[in-house]
Amino acid sequence: MTETQVQNPRVVFDGVLERIGGSFVGDPTLLRKVLAAALANGHVLFEDYPGLGKTLLVKVVSRVLGADARRVQFTPDILPADITGTKVWDTDEGRFRLEKGPVFTNVLLADEINRAPPKTQSALLEAMEERQVTIEGDTHILPPPFFVLATQNPIEQEGTYPLPEAQMDRFLMKLSTGYPPNLAAEREILKRRIAWQKEDPTADIQPAMDIESFRKYQMLCETRIFVHDDVLDYISTLVRELRSHPRLEIGPSPRGALALLRASRALALLHGRDFVTPDDVRMIAIDCLAHRSIVEMEQALEGFRSEDAVADVLNKVRPPFRFKRGA
Ligand SMILES: Nc1ncnc2c1ncn2[C@@H]1O[C@H](COP(=O)(O)OP(=O)(O)OP(=O)(O)O)[C@@H](O)[C@H]1O
Ligand SMILES: [Mg+2]
Repeated sequence: MTETQVQNPRVVFDGVLERIGGSFVGDPTLLRKVLAAALANGHVLFEDYPGLGKTLLVKVVSRVLGADARRVQFTPDILPADITGTKVWDTDEGRFRLEKGPVFTNVLLADEINRAPPKTQSALLEAMEERQVTIEGDTHILPPPFFVLATQNPIEQEGTYPLPEAQMDRFLMKLSTGYPPNLAAEREILKRRIAWQKEDPTADIQPAMDIESFRKYQMLCETRIFVHDDVLDYISTLVRELRSHPRLEIGPSPRGALALLRASRALALLHGRDFVTPDDVRMIAIDCLAHRSIVEMEQALEGFRSEDAVADVLNKVRPPFRFKRGA
């Protein structure tokens, strides 16, 4: 990777965004959030109705980043070993050897995660949190980059096992692709399909970078992006206000505040800055905090959502005006 590339992450990632946008018709803000999660080495849960391009998006993103990606279609009969791997007897060698499961990769596409039984879900969630797996007593590290892009359908269908709220906390962000915003976008999806001449265009996409370069940008997020104390206070106040929100039963944990910090630094890098602004925090707050907050039952019946609670605190808490180095 050249110096220029390291100095101009904005140019590099604008190119990445453009390439993703070449296959996935969608809001550039959504794509930027997905990239921010990836740069923060964080897991994303996509929740949407069927057919809104979730699977396409996660395939395109991993392809464009030059990442090794493995896909697991979750089903009711999937076992933990189908994710992590297992030891098999090698008759030639006369000993057991490790057959690594799909979790040994950079990007694990976990499709329809809520179709797996709880035991398999928890094997995956353990790998997500600890970034290691234990297979028959031996522990194996999952070196970075490693992140999970999972999808689930929101409809309570027969044969689904909804993720427990505590396990939602493992996801850095929860996002949704949503319906195409207008007629032009709707038509564009059809036009691309005609141009591709096949259902799945992802195999033809050229990566925009290699995974080692991507790892360097991940490290930049960790080491080079300045966060002013006033911005740290802003994040902490948002989280604390949410915890005491009158219509919430439970607010975000400190892990939620850390998630908001990580995602904000990654967004700053994508914008080509080496410091976090309050706008970075605001842009990503709902995506990082809403799925970690539980609305009181009565309030939920009235249609109040945890996203509304995050919006409330964003309106209430004044953003800091000092955020630059030395300010
Ligand atoms: N925003 C989009 N841009 C381009 N193609 C799209 C978009 N949304 C959907 N499609 C196309 O629609 C089809 C369905 O998309 P996909 O399989 O990704 O949906 P999904 O959200 O994963 O659905 P499910 O929940 O049923 O798994 C694909 O052929 C995909 O190419
Ligand atoms: Mg899908």
